[in-house]
Amino acid sequence: MLRIALLPGDGIGPEVIASALTVLERAGQVFGFQISTRWFDNSAERYLKTGETLPDADFRALRDDFDAILLGAFGDPRVPSNIHAKEILLGLRQRLDLYVNLRPVKLVDARLCPLKDVGPGDLDMAIVRENTESIYVGIGGSFKPDTDDEVAQNTMLTTRKGADRLLKFAFELAGQRRGRLVLCDKANAIESAHGLWRKALKAMAPQYPNVKATTLYADVAAMRMVTHPQEFDVVVGDNMIGDILSDLAAALVGGLGLAPSSSTHPGRVAMYEPVHGSAPDIVGTGKANPLAAILSAAMLLRDFGQPAAAAAIEAACAQSVVDREVTPDLGGTLTTAQVTARIAGAL
Ligand code: IPM
Ligand code: MG
Repeated sequence: MLRIALLPGDGIGPEVIASALTVLERAGQVFGFQISTRWFDNSAERYLKTGETLPDADFRALRDDFDAILLGAFGDPRVPSNIHAKEILLGLRQRLDLYVNLRPVKLVDARLCPLKDVGPGDLDMAIVRENTESIYVGIGGSFKPDTDDEVAQNTMLTTRKGADRLLKFAFELAGQRRGRLVLCDKANAIESAHGLWRKALKAMAPQYPNVKATTLYADVAAMRMVTHPQEFDVVVGDNMIGDILSDLAAALVGGLGLAPSSSTHPGRVAMYEPVHGSAPDIVGTGKANPLAAILSAAMLLRDFGQPAAAAAIEAACAQSVVDREVTPDLGGTLTTAQVTARIAGAL
């Protein structure tokens, strides 16, 4: 029994998580496994009603009672501070110490790529983003806020242990893929924090002779992803660099509507989420693209011993894209529910 917590969040989150659940249940019937689920209502709505974001009881349940969390999206115009998103989404990543944020990016249809002459064989990378440190640690503040003398400061924190554990994951992944790893950083400007990453890479590389490990400044990496996407296999970056490059990479294969992710720490509950946001403007219109959530569910299944089901879901999603049986963002005319039914049917 695979125990999954459903944490749909805000906006289109509930719609795409419902789609992912439909596909998971269908996959269970076809491939012979069982799931148990529990819905969590932590969201802007609950925050506005009760002032709660991620109360301890919910946190403990998520941490202790499940194999995986399937999360939708957070962000609501009624909560401009985004405090609930910070405390729920970033809170879970931090408090569960889910240090690997894996964002696979693969082109399945040349028509979705904004680059010239780039086809499916040319673009297949895995972004491995550090998920707990860097500028995301929340250390900082403002001095004399809202005056002409305002000073604002945020600390970028990098630890050797944090770099080592992420690099180990990335090297192992590269060994299972095409054997190339590139660390993207700004070591030329952020000498201490990003210099540490380079030291850690240099020290670890000899343990993985089958992996060709290189470094690129992140600005150059952004450029080369556009000019030479074929060069990239496993892309490693700290929390901020990984955040930015993963959106860039997603835009090369059809946008965030197709971008899944996992946040993991071996031995702990794992979290799966579409990279996209809550898209409050299209809630309830049937325009929400469920594929990123469905592909996130496929990543979940692969991590929990169901590789055949995962591959079948990914193939069904790719076929939908190629056949243009998709939502308007990908050039189709189907609704969220129709895409979901198509994927479930294809299984
Ligand atoms: C992401 C998002 C988040 C991040 C935001 C919503 C804080 O952009 O998951 O990539 O920066 O990590
Ligand atoms: Mg992002």
